[in-house]
Amino acid sequence: MKLGNTEIKGKAVLAPMAGVTDRAFRELCMGYGAAYCVSEMVSAKGLIMSDRKTAELLAISDNERPMAIQLFGYEPEVLAQAARIAAQQNPAAIDINMGCPAPKIAGNHSGSALMKDPALCGRIVETVAKAVDIPVTVKIRKGWDSSSVNAVEVARACESAGAQMIAVHGRTREQMYAPPADWDIIAAVKNAVSVPVIGNGDIYSAKDAMMMLEKTGCDLVMVGRGSLGNPWIFREINSQYDLERPVSPPGIYERMTVMNRHIEKLCLYKGENVGMREARKHTAWYMRGIKGAAKLRVMCGELRTLSDMKELTKQALISALDLNE
Ligand SMILES: Cc1cc2nc3c(=O)[nH]c(=O)nc-3n(C[C@H](O)[C@H](O)[C@H](O)COP(=O)(O)O)c2cc1C
Repeated sequence: MKLGNTEIKGKAVLAPMAGVTDRAFRELCMGYGAAYCVSEMVSAKGLIMSDRKTAELLAISDNERPMAIQLFGYEPEVLAQAARIAAQQNPAAIDINMGCPAPKIAGNHSGSALMKDPALCGRIVETVAKAVDIPVTVKIRKGWDSSSVNAVEVARACESAGAQMIAVHGRTREQMYAPPADWDIIAAVKNAVSVPVIGNGDIYSAKDAMMMLEKTGCDLVMVGRGSLGNPWIFREINSQYDLERPVSPPGIYERMTVMNRHIEKLCLYKGENVGMREARKHTAWYMRGIKGAAKLRVMCGELRTLSDMKELTKQALISALDLNE
């Protein structure tokens, strides 16, 4: 599949997740076969006001390409100006966040609140597309709430304005992240537009991915929470297409090796202090399914240093391999 000049090889995309899909995690998932990834959402206003922390979110290494930078905001000109800054990092695309439900984003007219005004969505795409010479894409939800399901209308408005790809999360803003995602709305958007559509919501296995591709006709699937502590999900999905290379789920050694690699990178990019604080949630996700996980998770919550993580790794191996007396 082509997006502008970028070739996207594969079917599974890593979803943008603020506070989770930073450079360390994106590199890991791309290494395990994600076809494409998207940055954590970046404040358009923060970027144009030269906020240092915001600007740090833009860094892209070659190991994470093809990657889009996602912006949030609501003023077309501000988003366009921010897109020009973001485009200097040579991302594959600029993605506009039209789905975030968080009160501090949606309450400020941005994210999912944009879906209340399809004409504004169109104006944003048009203005940003004029400002940069790379593709502009959008990530939308099913709608704002059950009485305003308008993903098809918003997708059409964005396509007419120049959006080159549309990701659809099959939940309304009102539903946040809880009930099962509605894949029919993904199929409805796919039928309504001619640009590629990414289906998103509730992909936790290769089987889910295959089912979504088949049921909705979407071009790519986007994996969010299914990748937490589980970057292997991309390898698993890809193996469905490459019968020569069947893969088995990661064993405890692979799990622990990759967890360590992930957290070491996190510390390398953010420093040990911040890195280890963020490592608490990631390591807890890596413990899922391991014998004695509840006890191990308590250790995860107390991590302070890389050497604490070595101790956690040792205890996880002892527990998983049942080496206790
Ligand atoms: C912790 C977290 C952070 C998220 N941050 C973003 C974000 O920055 N931008 C965005 O478009 N969506 C964001 N999302 C939504 C996901 O990209 C995705 O649409 C949602 O989780 C549904 O997919 P899933 O069922 O595979 O998790 C976030 C979701 C989670 C759980």
